[in-house]
Amino acid sequence: MSTALITGITGQDGQYLAETLHAKGYRVVGVVTGQRNPHADALASGLPFVELVGGDLADLPSLIAALEYSQPDEVYNLGAISYVALSFKQAELTANVNGLGVLRLLEAIRLVGGQDNPIRFYQASSSEMFGKVRETPQNELTPLHPRSPYGSAKVFGHHTTVNYRESYGLFACSGILFNHESPRRGLEFVTRKVTNAAARIALGLQDEVALGNLEAKRDWGFAGDYVRAMHLMLQQDEPDDFVIATGEARSVREFVQLAFSAAGIDDWERHVRIDPRFFRPAEVDLLVGDASKAHRVLGWAPQMPFETLVTSMVAHDLEIERRKLA
Ligand code: GDD
Repeated sequence: MSTALITGITGQDGQYLAETLHAKGYRVVGVVTGQRNPHADALASGLPFVELVGGDLADLPSLIAALEYSQPDEVYNLGAISYVALSFKQAELTANVNGLGVLRLLEAIRLVGGQDNPIRFYQASSSEMFGKVRETPQNELTPLHPRSPYGSAKVFGHHTTVNYRESYGLFACSGILFNHESPRRGLEFVTRKVTNAAARIALGLQDEVALGNLEAKRDWGFAGDYVRAMHLMLQQDEPDDFVIATGEARSVREFVQLAFSAAGIDDWERHVRIDPRFFRPAEVDLLVGDASKAHRVLGWAPQMPFETLVTSMVAHDLEIERRKLA
């Protein structure tokens, strides 16, 4: 039985990845931070097969202890401050966790990982690294130009992963994932914020939602499809870096329109207020990925179309809001 150690286990991707690996027969160990972490309690009841171990990307000894305890074959580093807007307000923390955290985990792997059974490592890199994009669509060779403390820290983590692969021969892969969503997405991200608001407005529970830049364009896929790519990367003969994306760009405006229409609301503009608080000091205007390398080498392709993703998120939010009313 293979063992996977996952940081960021309580997040959207951590949960989908844990389910995917468990279905493949893996022993899944998740790293949880903090004391009496409420997300850890929710995880223990939602995904009871996950073994939990304490640890923090800001604390090297705790990462060494988590590796020694779990003795993993594969480590997936999904832990991060993942909300780009927050990274502007907590830039130092973001650099520490999202940037130096990768270096700490790689050092811990170097210290603990045995020669006979070398640990394979996956780093959650991000399309935010492309920032002010130099070309469209973006691929593995597109120059990086981050536009936020989040993006800058992810660039450090990405280069560090490549560097440890080249310096020490670690089986270290970096997945450059474009935006990926699901009903498990946090309410702070624009997609879930919108699907949740559309559901609540349709049910008469609120009248409007405050949003920022509606013109930003993103390449939105389904998180459940993207975690399959993470696993595939670690099953190859050679470690490498891969862009994971759908290749389709939509604006926030299009997302809002579709989500409201799925909730049965045609006059969405009446319910959306533009609030400067949700604009960022520097914006990433357009992200759209070229995942042809992943198609070719990994045999990976996204399965869920954009329209299905949006309507399933709205349906989920309608159901939970109705349940609250009952
Ligand atoms: N969150 C949010 N809230 N974003 C808004 C809002 C709002 O009210 N209004 C407009 N937006 C715009 C943002 O300015 C941004 O251009 C876009 O919607 C998407 O924002 P998010 O959903 O917060 O995601 P993100 O693109 O910044 O970052 C996500 O994707 C990255 C991959 O490209 C996160 O998941 C990152 O962790 C991930 O690396």
